[in-house]
Amino acid sequence: MKKGNGGEKMTQDTTVLLDERRIFKPSKEIIERAHIKDWEAEIEKGKDIEKYWAEKAEQFEWFKKYDKVLDDSNKPFYKWFVNGKINLAYNAVDRWIHTEKRNQVAILYVNERGHEKKITYYELYREVNKLANAFKNLGVKKGDKVSTYLPMCPELIITLLACTKIGAIHSVVYSGLSVGAFVDRVNDAEAKVILTADGTYRRGKIIDLKKISDEAVLRCPTVETIVVVNHTGSKIEISELSGREIFYDRLIEGEPVECEPEHMDAEDPLFILYTSGSTGKPKGVLHTTAGYMVGVATTLRNVFDIQDDDLWWCTGDIGWITGHSYVLYGPLLLGTTTVVYEGAPDYPDPGVWWNIVERYGVTKFYTAPTAIRHLMRFGNRYPNIYDLSSLKILGTVGEPINPEAWVWYYKNIGKEKTPIMDTWWQTETGMHLISPLPSAPLKPGSATKPLPGIDADVVDVDGKPVPMGKGGLLVIKTPWPAMFRTLYKDEQRYMDVYWTDVPGGVYSAGDMARKDEDGYFWIQGRSDDVLKIAGHRVGTSEVESAFVSHPAVAEAAVIGKSDPIKGEVIKAFLILKEGKKLDTNLIEELSRHVRYELGPVAVLGEMEQVEKLPKTRSGKIMRRILRAKEEGKDLGDTSTLEE
Ligand code: WTA
Repeated sequence: MKKGNGGEKMTQDTTVLLDERRIFKPSKEIIERAHIKDWEAEIEKGKDIEKYWAEKAEQFEWFKKYDKVLDDSNKPFYKWFVNGKINLAYNAVDRWIHTEKRNQVAILYVNERGHEKKITYYELYREVNKLANAFKNLGVKKGDKVSTYLPMCPELIITLLACTKIGAIHSVVYSGLSVGAFVDRVNDAEAKVILTADGTYRRGKIIDLKKISDEAVLRCPTVETIVVVNHTGSKIEISELSGREIFYDRLIEGEPVECEPEHMDAEDPLFILYTSGSTGKPKGVLHTTAGYMVGVATTLRNVFDIQDDDLWWCTGDIGWITGHSYVLYGPLLLGTTTVVYEGAPDYPDPGVWWNIVERYGVTKFYTAPTAIRHLMRFGNRYPNIYDLSSLKILGTVGEPINPEAWVWYYKNIGKEKTPIMDTWWQTETGMHLISPLPSAPLKPGSATKPLPGIDADVVDVDGKPVPMGKGGLLVIKTPWPAMFRTLYKDEQRYMDVYWTDVPGGVYSAGDMARKDEDGYFWIQGRSDDVLKIAGHRVGTSEVESAFVSHPAVAEAAVIGKSDPIKGEVIKAFLILKEGKKLDTNLIEELSRHVRYELGPVAVLGEMEQVEKLPKTRSGKIMRRILRAKEEGKDLGDTSTLEE
């Protein structure tokens, strides 16, 4: 092993025999260093939720203090920090330039080719202001929507901050999504401006984002301006741009480096981020300003124990909530340095991430179980080449982590010294809700307990708590500051999907879970028809409609099939149009078609041609039956099955 950081090993309590019952206790050193030394005591403190979150709101500079912490008079439309006035970009950037952090690196951009770019808080301040002023020139006003289809690059971060500075609402489209998904999201958000780039680096290639965007914007009537970032230097000529396009560099040229922050109401919309549900089109999850700030900054600080000397790296993409909350906003609100990585985890080789950890001395590292399982396949050879002794705390997010992957991560990356924070949360929750703190005893595969200030439980369909050890529905019983406030333009769906399923006015998360004898939560996966493919949320209905939009397909039903690395992949059952056969050509064509509609996130496993699909008498596809058949399990209750 490489020279250690002198850190103590965590102690392992193996008195219990079953593997998944192993308990890992934090070392004294971890506890001594931690902001929160007593996990249970902090949970106790969090029981007075208004007091707890009000205290956390103190860290920011408010233009006007709020009158009331929580307004719950119109459930489930909660309001936090009522009548407070604040600006997120001001608190994430401007605030630091009057402190010793002024010349500290805010963004450390590095890509799979090893190119890097460091941007200090002061430089970031200037860039954000320039773009904010340029947006104003384009006619972007408070409440207008700006969409992005950009790689993980500094311009993406600058764009989102420029929006929040002037009160525009951003809506990021993940650069791995494709034309169909892009069009749906941009049209639903009614974006006025779009930012895209010439390309993004992925596994040694450059993916042409502009080409996808060009095709998509033809179907996006609200878009007035398209801003093009020259990111990979592929040299698009000015003459190639259409009348509504402009280069990013041109746009900000000569713009003043000062820009007054918009005084936002605590409840003014901050961003819309689309995510998949079990039915219909993606949902526009709407987050607002102050509560979101308080929630993400507090959870990042506490869960990963962010200190002044930290180098923070979250590998999530800004196209998803993880990137919004913990690549961009959380870290900058805490004034830390955030690593922004563009590329694959295994290119040019599966040591690329560990190389970055060594080169820059990353101290806190946060990634997805699917990435860990992928890198695990290459054994411990790669992590052993590099000095990983700077690492102090590790984390995971996005799906349940299997104990085997947890232990591999713990041993080979953390060298048995770093606790692993298994953080459970969602696009809707905005921030971690169930997660340990570094001072908590850990059990591999469990996200441990609800964070301080959070009240969660596992209940049955009547809203009654289930007995210990039994599976049930995961619910959140009290509001939290970073909660989404509605689904954009669809309040009814907001209420139906999240607040009425389970009686008692609780938030139903759509996940199954159980609690053990210590009150630890074990998340078991989704209770609805949402898939988790390599940590990405994909709705079965979106995939089905992509299939059905192909002329050869009459009907489609899609289920998740378990996959050792991606967690789940898609298995599709297809009824084809008269005379069509699912031969290799058609399989290839359908794969291309679905990829065109949805992008590479929709990883197709298998397709099977069928004559019939199991349906309820009312015509709803019973995916549960398909799943049970696929796994060779009992079909369960089939009384509602038509035939
Ligand atoms: C799943 C990602 C188990 C869960 C931040 C949830 C997890 C969905 C965990 C939200 C975890 C997320 N353990 N499952 N630590 N974290 N999930 O909106 O099913 O992309 O409902 O947000 O991911 O996915 P989303």
